[in-house]
Amino acid sequence: MLSTLLRGCCIAAAGGVMVLLSAGAPAHANDEVRIGLITGGCVGCHGGEGGGGHGIPNIAKTMTRAEFVATMKAFRENKNNPTVMNRIARGYTDEEFALMAIRWAKPE
Ligand code: HEC
Repeated sequence: MLSTLLRGCCIAAAGGVMVLLSAGAPAHANDEVRIGLITGGCVGCHGGEGGGGHGIPNIAKTMTRAEFVATMKAFRENKNNPTVMNRIARGYTDEEFALMAIRWAKPE
């Protein structure tokens, strides 16, 4: 019982090291899960493919990743006259904007 617990603990620790080592590299399996989680709310308005409609702009591969991140940062600072995106962007970090860009921006 105890040895099972200890083994689980070591595996968890090793997993943590792997996450640290993979930080900064693009789109690992871990990132895929995070991207799914942080962009899940976008599809309610922008659509599953990000194509927009009904007054909501298309965000599917319309921008480079850098442009996308800059747009999100600008919304977070209340720029570009947003109605809702300022409030949404405030919930995310720069790192998360970069992850979102992997899904929504033009592929690099
Ligand atoms: C409640 C509906 C709603 C949700 C949810 C939403 N958006 Fe938006 N989005 C908008 C609207 C409306 C605009 C136009 C700007 C504004 O009025 O705030 C917009 C604009 C944008 C733009 C700028 C597009 C352009 O070409 O100027 C980007 C990029 C964007 N959204 C990304 C996202 C991302 C990423 C998410 C998920 C984290 C998200 N949006 C979630 C409604 C939404």
